[in-house]
Amino acid sequence: MKKVNISFDLFVFESLTALPVGNQKLLKMAIKSRENAYAPYSKFKVGAAVLLENGEVVLGNNQENASYPSGLCAERVAIFQAGAIYPGVKIKTIAISATSEKYELDRPAGPCGNCRQSIAEYEQKQQSPIAIIMMGSVGEIYKTNSIADILPLGFEASYLK
Ligand code: THU
Repeated sequence: MKKVNISFDLFVFESLTALPVGNQKLLKMAIKSRENAYAPYSKFKVGAAVLLENGEVVLGNNQENASYPSGLCAERVAIFQAGAIYPGVKIKTIAISATSEKYELDRPAGPCGNCRQSIAEYEQKQQSPIAIIMMGSVGEIYKTNSIADILPLGFEASYLK
C-alpha cells in the first residue's frame, strides 16, 4: 500500500477589489447575472460568467422548475450556452456568485457535483485548464486554476473506448 496525497492551490481574495482587474470584471458580470435567475422555490440565486479565449463573455443563471430536477444550475446554463454559441472556442475562466433571499451568504458556494462534471468535460475536450472563481454575495472570493483541482479522480471520456 502507498499513500498518495492529492492537493491543490486555493487562492483566497479578501474582497472583489483584491482580484486582478480582468477577474473583477468577470465576477461583476456574474453578480449582475444573478438578477435574472429564476429561483422562486429555493430563493437562492446564482449567476455565472464564462470568459472565452476570443474575449467573449457568456452569462448564465439558475433556472428552476416546479418539478425540481428539471431546473438547471447557473454554471451549466452558462457553459452549455457558450458551447452552443461558440463551439470549439476554449473557455478560460468561469466566475460564479450566489446569493440567498433568506440570509446573507458570506462565503463562496462551490459548484455542485453535476456542474463540476460538466465543466470538466469542457476542460478535457479543450485540453487546457478552466479557472474557477467563486463568491457568495459578500466576503472572501476563492479561485482555483482548474476544475480538475476540485474534481479529482473524475470520470472522463478516455474511459469510454
Ligand atoms: N445552484 C446553482 O445554480 N449552482 C450550483 O452549483 C449549486 C446550486 C442552484 C440550483 C437551484 O436553483 C438552487 O441553486 C438551489 O439549489
